[in-house]
Amino acid sequence: MGTKVCSADDVTPAAAKRVVVDGVAIAVVKDSAGTIHAIGDTCTHGDISLAEGFVEDDTLECWAHGSKFELTTGKPLTLPAYEPVPVFTVTVVDGDVYVDTTASPAGVAQ
Ligand code: FES
Repeated sequence: MGTKVCSADDVTPAAAKRVVVDGVAIAVVKDSAGTIHAIGDTCTHGDISLAEGFVEDDTLECWAHGSKFELTTGKPLTLPAYEPVPVFTVTVVDGDVYVDTTASPAGVAQ
């Protein structure tokens, strides 16, 4: 099931949360529909924390140069980033969020 990282109430579409699990920086993000996702926190274009960016629908936008990463696949939908970030499996149990850093549901290489 993975590692407990936070409470589901700790993340909102207005504020993603950066956590570190097994040395991996992860952005825990609630999309506009209320679904929680976990993707690699470091933008593939620069050393920027994506958790400091902006959620729009099911994307997370890097604040530095505006690449929007799709939360379900980790793929950047807009330049300048062109490499995907990893996507991790999220499980919510009793209001707590668990992230499994070994699983990548979208099949994105880590
Ligand atoms: S550092 Fe994220 S888009 Fe440039």
